[in-house]
Amino acid sequence: MIALKEILLQATREHWSTGHFNASESDHMRAIVEAAKEVGAPAIIGTSEGEAKHLGYLEAVALRDAFRAELGIPVFLNSDHHKSVEAAKIAIDAGYDSIHIDLSAQSFDENVRGTRDVVEYAKINHRYVANQHSNILQNVGMLSVEGELGYLRGDSKIQKEKIEIKPEDYTDPDQAADFVAKTGINRLAIAVGNIHGISLDEPNLDIDRIKKIREAIPENVALVLHAGSGIPDDQIKAAIAAGIANIHINTDIRVAYTEALRKELSKKPDETTPYRFDAAARDTLKNLIVEKLRLFGSGG
Ligand code: G3H
Ligand code: ZN
Repeated sequence: MIALKEILLQATREHWSTGHFNASESDHMRAIVEAAKEVGAPAIIGTSEGEAKHLGYLEAVALRDAFRAELGIPVFLNSDHHKSVEAAKIAIDAGYDSIHIDLSAQSFDENVRGTRDVVEYAKINHRYVANQHSNILQNVGMLSVEGELGYLRGDSKIQKEKIEIKPEDYTDPDQAADFVAKTGINRLAIAVGNIHGISLDEPNLDIDRIKKIREAIPENVALVLHAGSGIPDDQIKAAIAAGIANIHINTDIRVAYTEALRKELSKKPDETTPYRFDAAARDTLKNLIVEKLRLFGSGG
């Protein structure tokens, strides 16, 4: 199977972006992989620590394998925003093929140390994990690790209050180059005016800063834009043109799924068979993901 690293390098060179979508139920995972299959894109499924605990790390890995076998497309599972080295190690040991270690709330030195520890652990331990899951990955070089630099505010919900971004929150291009060199990561998540969740005000991405960070780091390290919900399409396209190769979306799909589920439940108040009322929500989720993947230029 093609490695995520190769896909991201191709996306960076050709100026399109992969999409990363969060899941906490097998139904969400199915919506993501079916959307990816429909447009001809790789599927990247993320589970935050909370989502992974709800779904189960081993269960997420088993479902990932089942969807790969069923649909015959590249499906990657990422440990989204894992905020400690220990949590990231759990995901590596479980068989995740992509790790996001997010120590951005810590000092630069602590962030470097912890992120590098995860990169090293992934190199040493992934051979063992790959052997356990022989159909997952062919060699240790396939695992992709993402670090985060800069401070991303908000969380994945509709924000009721205005969130102010401070100048020191933004990722500095020179520090980004230093961080990449010291940690050995494959992907870098950056703060460039993005805020987790759907914010009250329209976000204003610093496109010039994305370009500068892109120029400051090696081509084979992909740039990741988190907090993709609520960002206008023209800004998404400009961010991709400036070098973003992976965009995270959670709130948009959470809201669409939940609203569709509420609507269906109120239409069918006496229905007690779950698959008769949750299939519509899954279809809504899939259709929105198809739209996002097309916006990112990921189709085909
Ligand atoms: O890691 C997850 C994403 O950054 C989600 O952000 O909820 O604003 O789409 P979002
Ligand atoms: Zn995020």
